[in-house]
Amino acid sequence: MYDINKIRNDFPMLNNKTMQGKPLVYLDNASTTFKPQCVIDEMNKYYLEMNANSHRGDYDLCYNMDMEVLLARKTIAKFINSEVNEVVFTSGDTEALNLVAYGYALEFLKKGDKILISIEEHASNVLPWYRVCELTGADIAFVELDNKRVTIDGVKKAFKENKNIKIVALAHVGNVLGYEIDAKEIAKVCHDNGAIFVLDGAQSVPHNLVDFKDLDVDFLTFSAHKMCGPTGIGCLIGKYDLLQKMATFHTGGGMNVTFKSNGEVIPLDAPSKFEAGTLNLSGIMGFKKAVEYLSELGLENIHKHDQELFDYALNKLKGHDHIIIYNEDARNGIISFNIKGVFAQDEATLLNSKGIAVRSGQHCAKMIDEVIGEPATVRMSTYLYTSKEDIDVFCENLINGGDILDAYFFN
Ligand code: ALA
Repeated sequence: MYDINKIRNDFPMLNNKTMQGKPLVYLDNASTTFKPQCVIDEMNKYYLEMNANSHRGDYDLCYNMDMEVLLARKTIAKFINSEVNEVVFTSGDTEALNLVAYGYALEFLKKGDKILISIEEHASNVLPWYRVCELTGADIAFVELDNKRVTIDGVKKAFKENKNIKIVALAHVGNVLGYEIDAKEIAKVCHDNGAIFVLDGAQSVPHNLVDFKDLDVDFLTFSAHKMCGPTGIGCLIGKYDLLQKMATFHTGGGMNVTFKSNGEVIPLDAPSKFEAGTLNLSGIMGFKKAVEYLSELGLENIHKHDQELFDYALNKLKGHDHIIIYNEDARNGIISFNIKGVFAQDEATLLNSKGIAVRSGQHCAKMIDEVIGEPATVRMSTYLYTSKEDIDVFCENLINGGDILDAYFFN
């Protein structure tokens, strides 16, 4: 059984009050999540008991760290269903996408090639591709949306209309509207057309069962901090033959077999060839613990919980026509909305004064205004510890917003 009270007890942040002394209603989980005590303890364990570098010493502490890194890699590989050597540690989703851009796209794309993305992507899945285009002469193409969604037909149409699409890079679940794409079918379309498929899992891996092998995507990226883990650590999961073909991105200690005075460098095999410098070891240990924590709760249960809260909130908000919701059919723990006549930032500021943390603006997806026709939205996003009481407080404040709603009611 999903025992929300027991789960909430695992998260020390939930005991904090807001600066106004109110209970904290944290609804910005698409941005980052709180960490359970077991993750915090695991990170502290590194500093208190295990502090040593990995792969660089012949004493017990160092050997133990080697084993910890391997164990973390194995835990993540099992969680996402990849091979152990397909897990590359990065500083997060952004660095993982940059690694594909610099390590793969720069190496294999040329003038006239195309990279297909959507205008709903967040900056991390747009700007690395823009940079690749600047450096190679390749071009960006945008998939046509159907009712705010990326569809298989949209992707097929893009391939028909654009010759030489070599890379397709899309969010598995959008960070503003929360729509999920059919990644498995899109991967097939990409492969039928000779392109590779990069799946940005930042908003899906924390909330859904994601199976790398079953989806048959070429690369999958995600961050630990959006799934109860530490900041500054994440993953690129890549098919091994592609990882091996890729150029190195960061170079330095830990990624080479040897280098010579004539400039020759022999890199290690993947994943090590991408992991130059001392690894974020406490982060890796915390990441492993976060994955164990989520696995114990069960991703199906976490997803069901998000969906129940989504339905619960939507039901309460329905029929209040001063509240405009942009993604009523998304059911992925994200509600993007506006209050008629009220700036998104003003609404978020009002909610903050009531102890409710939400995000407003464009949420790093700076082309989203072209999809929804508004310059900004307010976004609330839930996670495994969000309670119905949190949703009650949130909905009550939207429905009876106080003076700020005069802007709507008196217009
Ligand atoms: N991409 C993160 C968000 O959606 C930061 O808030």
